[in-house]
Amino acid sequence: MSYMIHRPRRLRKTAAIRSLVRETRLAPENFVLPLFVCPGTGVRREISSMPGVFNLSIDELTTDVAAAQDIGVRSIILFGLPETKDEIASGAYAEDGIVQRAIRAVRQSSPEMIIMADTCLCEYTSHGHCGVVRDGEVINDDSLELLARTALSQAAAGADLVAPSAMMDGQVEAIRTLLDAEGFENTAIMSYAVKYASGFYGPFREAAQSAPEFGDRRAYQMDPPNAREAMRETELDYSEGADILMVKPATVYLDVLKMVRERFDIPCAAYHVSGEYALIKAAAQKGWIDEERVMLETLTSIKRAGADIILTYYAREAIRALKK
Ligand code: PBG
Repeated sequence: MSYMIHRPRRLRKTAAIRSLVRETRLAPENFVLPLFVCPGTGVRREISSMPGVFNLSIDELTTDVAAAQDIGVRSIILFGLPETKDEIASGAYAEDGIVQRAIRAVRQSSPEMIIMADTCLCEYTSHGHCGVVRDGEVINDDSLELLARTALSQAAAGADLVAPSAMMDGQVEAIRTLLDAEGFENTAIMSYAVKYASGFYGPFREAAQSAPEFGDRRAYQMDPPNAREAMRETELDYSEGADILMVKPATVYLDVLKMVRERFDIPCAAYHVSGEYALIKAAAQKGWIDEERVMLETLTSIKRAGADIILTYYAREAIRALKK
């Protein structure tokens, strides 16, 4: 037995000392704010399962982006609700598609903002799947060409980063190859490398109107019990040229995030998804938890596990809380 008592409590005595020895700090530049853009003007429609999150027409979007920038948000990621949907997701790669127009508008109104674009087809297909469907199956290789065209149109509109999230094999390589061939070698790819088939995406599908019409996404998104497989997915995306690797959802996959962080030296991102946001919001609305405290504790855990970048609907509130 040691003759003295070790006293970790000495370093917890005051707020100043706790801050002195703090290991993990959230900063405004860690956050990416997801935004949903829809047709029309003057549209600001709240998502019932995501209080504080809206479908915004482009004019309202530019207002919100400017306001977010004033708060300290440095990056946004855009999702689009197109006017019409079809079998081949035409709206995803149309030059005047909803996201392409939104990118140009934000580029104009908030030139400093880092603009990311989610590169997927599910919001644009009539069946709601993330790729081309034939005989009830999502066809991998036919989807690659459309995903690459989508990324190219987003880059051409002015996106700084494209973020493929369809979980098609080879999508990063297909996108990198087309971007490079078309002179967009400086557009970065943030790959949703490890994306689980998760129940936590429920509220997002209301926000993006992208629920699959039949079946589910288990034949392309990852099986939640698998962590070693996540190493294979990240290995592949890394070798295909991903600049940033993402794990999604965040809080229930912190073990996986930590493994990715330890394995690769490129930046890691984590997506605190719609359902994770909704859980905190709902409990807070019931008065069961202290929202600000739980939000910061949650986001801190994501950073502590290894995320350099956190995509979260809480970006604005988190930055405000950090300034207090
Ligand atoms: C598009 C996409 C989804 C999310 C991000 N990109 C939905 C899905 O895969 O069903 C989910 C984000 C969230 O839940 O906040 N494929």
